[in-house]
Amino acid sequence: MKKWLDLLSEEAGALFEAAGYERELGKVTVSNRPDLCEYQCNGAMAAAKKYRKAPMAIAQDILAAWQDRSVFMSVEIAPPGFLNLKISGDYIAAYLDRMGKEERFGWETGGTVKKVILDYGGPNVAKPLHVGHLRSAVIGESMKHIMRYHGDDVTGDIHLGDWGLQMGLVITELRKRLPDLVYFDRNYSGEWPKEAPFTVSELEEIYPYASAKSKEDPAYYREALENTKALQDGDPGYRQLWKQIIAVSTDDMKKNYARLKVEFDLWNGESTVHDLIPEMAEELKKKGFAYESDGALIVDVARDDDTKQIPPCMILKSDGAALYTTTDLATIVDREEKFHPDEIVYITDKRQELHFEQVFRCAKKCGLAGENTVLKHIGFGTVNGKDGHALKTRDGGVMRLETLLDDINAAMLEKISTNPDIPPEEASATASTVALSAVKYGDLSNQPAKDYIFDLDKFTSFEGDTGPYILYTMVRIRSILRKYKEGRPQTSDISFGDMKLNSPLPSPEKDLMTGLAGMNTMLDEAYQDLAPNRICAFMYQICNEVNSFYHATRILSEQDEEKQQGYLALLYLCDRVLSCCTALLGFDVPDRM
Ligand code: ARG
Repeated sequence: MKKWLDLLSEEAGALFEAAGYERELGKVTVSNRPDLCEYQCNGAMAAAKKYRKAPMAIAQDILAAWQDRSVFMSVEIAPPGFLNLKISGDYIAAYLDRMGKEERFGWETGGTVKKVILDYGGPNVAKPLHVGHLRSAVIGESMKHIMRYHGDDVTGDIHLGDWGLQMGLVITELRKRLPDLVYFDRNYSGEWPKEAPFTVSELEEIYPYASAKSKEDPAYYREALENTKALQDGDPGYRQLWKQIIAVSTDDMKKNYARLKVEFDLWNGESTVHDLIPEMAEELKKKGFAYESDGALIVDVARDDDTKQIPPCMILKSDGAALYTTTDLATIVDREEKFHPDEIVYITDKRQELHFEQVFRCAKKCGLAGENTVLKHIGFGTVNGKDGHALKTRDGGVMRLETLLDDINAAMLEKISTNPDIPPEEASATASTVALSAVKYGDLSNQPAKDYIFDLDKFTSFEGDTGPYILYTMVRIRSILRKYKEGRPQTSDISFGDMKLNSPLPSPEKDLMTGLAGMNTMLDEAYQDLAPNRICAFMYQICNEVNSFYHATRILSEQDEEKQQGYLALLYLCDRVLSCCTALLGFDVPDRM
């Protein structure tokens, strides 16, 4: 169905046409002066030059052409030629009525369905998830929901970091600490142990230790490089040990992602494409794209019109080892082969922009990606603490994702527990649900590329532009609908969806209705720009309007039954719209809070 403002513009265009002007002049926008009118049209000013006529005179012509009040219930002129418009109550009610019945609230998706690989999450094996991983997971999951709602065929791939130097570092350190493990015995021919010789906490202590040591001890670093290469070349003991590292590490990741309500379709990683690398490198050499430079294999990707320097894309290091670029290129080959995607979308920290620029250029130049495959990188900003620097723990360490979630859960539980209506056994689950909305909304309400400050007090507040405020409003709506039903225990077939919306007078009710009319426009914009922040802004506006309406209106005690049903129908639509939005953002709504 047509977008609300487009529809109004068409109606205003018809007035222009009837008065002898071009239809296109009838563009309608939301009023800059809500005290005067709901919508405005500046077409008379735009027409003045073309028709060599004063804007006020043109506006008069439009006014004269306006006879039918079924769309615009009032049209007024304000100097120097503004058309101030108010919408008829029946017209908005009819639009919403239809919107409520149409699939996807009348969002016209154009019917084109894209096949998309969404590469997000991107945690590294053996390293604990930290706050930096929060954004990729939260933003990616929401984008996945948005694209799926559009109808796209989306496959989410976590793309584990499981193949690079970090693996060599962990193996090197394990070898030093536990030299007697069978994995290090070249002559071992028995069965490989089922149990991992370490726990996840041990693993998470080993990695930073080894990483720090490699920076101050060149011999240790060399060893780690050699072990990385040996792993990549297929050393049987290393491969077995590596599998154990992945198993222990991913088990732990799964718990964290479950807490975040983030689900991946594929748990592939950099290592998935290892076997494709030699052939790919050979091809690139044979076709003349890749050449040797200081022992390394590189492809030039700079262009004449570059405004900044784009270094060559390195395919293999001088020792023949694969790099981050290599696995990303081979992953494109693999995805092309298995999925023939229309689009591959990567969600990472924006500091990886250059990396993806190189990879994309190389993939296109060398024909690894199909000509029509769109490669898109969405870079996000940093999560900062209140001091404006990257969020740290109190003692200055890296903030683990787990700690962050624990902290916000605890803060939420404290608040929820003050509500005597919530039984203690329900409080903890409710607190987690609300806490997740706080984290996700706090993140998603910002444009992805922007840094933001993780402010626990602000994020968990029930007031202002926060997840808990949105949920609080939704709980309020549902409680009204529930109470209405509870008041009529004899009536079994109450269907809010069949109740008729009121034809509103200018009032909070009408504001809420015109707000809701923006739903399908918002969905389209959120999809086109992959911008969950638009969903948040829309929800916040609707929730503010719901609360104004709630405070100004006696709903449950309204005596006029028809009017009351109109209110209920409206609240029911709000609930459906907001529930759709929370699902797209990726969090749940509690029964009470
Ligand atoms: N593991 C990487 C990191 O921690 C992110 C991976 C993103 N995806 C990709 N295909 N490069 O930075």
